[in-house]
Amino acid sequence: DVVKVASADILPLGMAGSDGDRRLLVLYGSQTGYAQDSAHRIARQGWRRHFSVRVQAMDQVDKTEVFTATCPVIFVCSTTGQGEEPDNMKRFWRFLLRKSIPHDALDGLSFAVFGLGDSSYQRFNFPAKRLFRRLQQLGASPIIARGDGDDQHYLGIDGALDPWLEKLWDALLLRYPLPEPIVPDSVVPDPSFDVAFISNGHPASFDRVPEPEGSFSARLVAADRLTARDHFQDVRHFQFELDDQGSLPEWGPGDCAVLRPESLAPDVNRFLERMGWTESADLPLSISARDTSDFPCWIPACTTLRWLFTHYFDVMAVPRRSFFEMLYYFSEYENEKERLHEFSSTEGQDELQTYCMRPRRTILEVLDDLPHSRVPVEYIFDVFPPIAERSFSISSASAVTPTLVDLTVAIVNYNTIMQAPRVGVCTKWLAQMPLTHNVQLRFAKGTMRLPIDNSTPIIMVGPGTGIAAFMSFMYKRCSDGANANYLFFGCRNESKDFLYQKQLEKWVAEGSLHLFCAFSRDQEGQKVYVQQRIREHGDLVWALINDLGATIFVSGNANRMPDDVRQAFIDVVKSHADIDEDAASLYIQSMVKSRRYQEECWY
Ligand code: 2AM
Repeated sequence: DVVKVASADILPLGMAGSDGDRRLLVLYGSQTGYAQDSAHRIARQGWRRHFSVRVQAMDQVDKTEVFTATCPVIFVCSTTGQGEEPDNMKRFWRFLLRKSIPHDALDGLSFAVFGLGDSSYQRFNFPAKRLFRRLQQLGASPIIARGDGDDQHYLGIDGALDPWLEKLWDALLLRYPLPEPIVPDSVVPDPSFDVAFISNGHPASFDRVPEPEGSFSARLVAADRLTARDHFQDVRHFQFELDDQGSLPEWGPGDCAVLRPESLAPDVNRFLERMGWTESADLPLSISARDTSDFPCWIPACTTLRWLFTHYFDVMAVPRRSFFEMLYYFSEYENEKERLHEFSSTEGQDELQTYCMRPRRTILEVLDDLPHSRVPVEYIFDVFPPIAERSFSISSASAVTPTLVDLTVAIVNYNTIMQAPRVGVCTKWLAQMPLTHNVQLRFAKGTMRLPIDNSTPIIMVGPGTGIAAFMSFMYKRCSDGANANYLFFGCRNESKDFLYQKQLEKWVAEGSLHLFCAFSRDQEGQKVYVQQRIREHGDLVWALINDLGATIFVSGNANRMPDDVRQAFIDVVKSHADIDEDAASLYIQSMVKSRRYQEECWY
């Protein structure tokens, strides 16, 4: 996008210069915490340039504040699903789209937008692109062109963020010349929270985690392994029962349950010991937000280090660059300081990738390598990342079993390239959870939607745990008497990882499901995948999509499967419509446009 920014762009009245008011508002939309982390990095850089900076999630900010802002607003937002906005900017975004907002409502607002995404997805950075365009439509003026962070860059998001930030500061410093020299690297910024041990406090009662807004309390009532004991992968069916207190949530087929995992006691203990906090782990700790920060409202004002590192912080995460930036301030050992400085600098990013990101080293492991680095307690919120929420497709249907939320989860367990064993924080937490344990669940819209008309056939392609959402489709369709359901399911062995075999066969026997299975490793030689079955049943598939207007759904692991499956459909169209490859590919593309071909895939 070409952005015209006249050097004489007039600043809104009452802003910089005259009263020396150097304020910035940084607003983020973040799903996994990366955009939030980038927002805080911008804030720290701004602080070193003598700006006073406030950071907030877009949905937390008072909207009128944005509409009357006299300071520049920097937006940072990531991309989720198929090019959608992260949850914590959805409300703000919907508001911004209102037709009733006058076209010059943001006249006088200076803004910048940085997007985080992955260019291997079709709708790369769509939320950032749409946001940029909408702000311009409403009269706001961009300070610099939009920045597009790309996971595919060999340095990750920072590959684009660093040069973009240089441009941003150049532009902002032209408008707000520095009154004093830049604060040197070595000066520690103020902590963004007031955190202190107190002698007379009473930590909140911790038998129950406070309920974040919009969440529902549920207890685990079943946890069954769906794969054979001797199968390499442990896939489980978890069933949660919602507390039926009058207002049950309603979720649609294809929607997700969102969980915030907890860290397990042995990991927490190891960490507390490493930090020298074993003695102070259970002392009352008071926390309050300073003006400049975004405070997670569900954290008790009086708590303990143990509570925070169990429920809020994630020390098993791979640390981001900001972690090293902050640690640098607190290391008093020259060798470590040098190393931390390198990891924080633009030049050191290759090194950081090799040391940390590629081998997926955790914060705990990094701290073991830096025995002289200590973190003052008041900086914990600036140093450690919060535990990210995880979404899982729901396998049950609220129309059929309104209090039961079923999840189909592969327990993550692998070896890193350093041969270090790794487990997924969330799936490990689920795997060891005792029955009747209480959790908080949130519900989020999925990207796949069933056709409104029950007579429309659906073709579901879901190898492995890709079947999760299709179970909810099936429960719903069966309860609506919709029988034209076709499922292509794939797994390694019929006897080992045929998920939900009994239920699927029951539906087949009742005449509500046509099932086609590909057992990739049940025969010698060639593997058999779902795409082969799609080709073999080309006549049927063509009749369903061309004559009966079927909708196709593809769900599962996103390595090569989605492209391979799409190619199989293209081949079917090509041979049956007797058209060439390009025309067949356009046929499928037009199905994507009209939402008759929907994908929901994950890495
Ligand atoms: P494999 O592991 O034997 O290669 C669920 O994971 C099933 O999806 C497994 O049978 C797996 O086979 C199969 N699978 C792996 N890659 C695939 C691809 N590109 N397309 C379709 N199925 C695939």
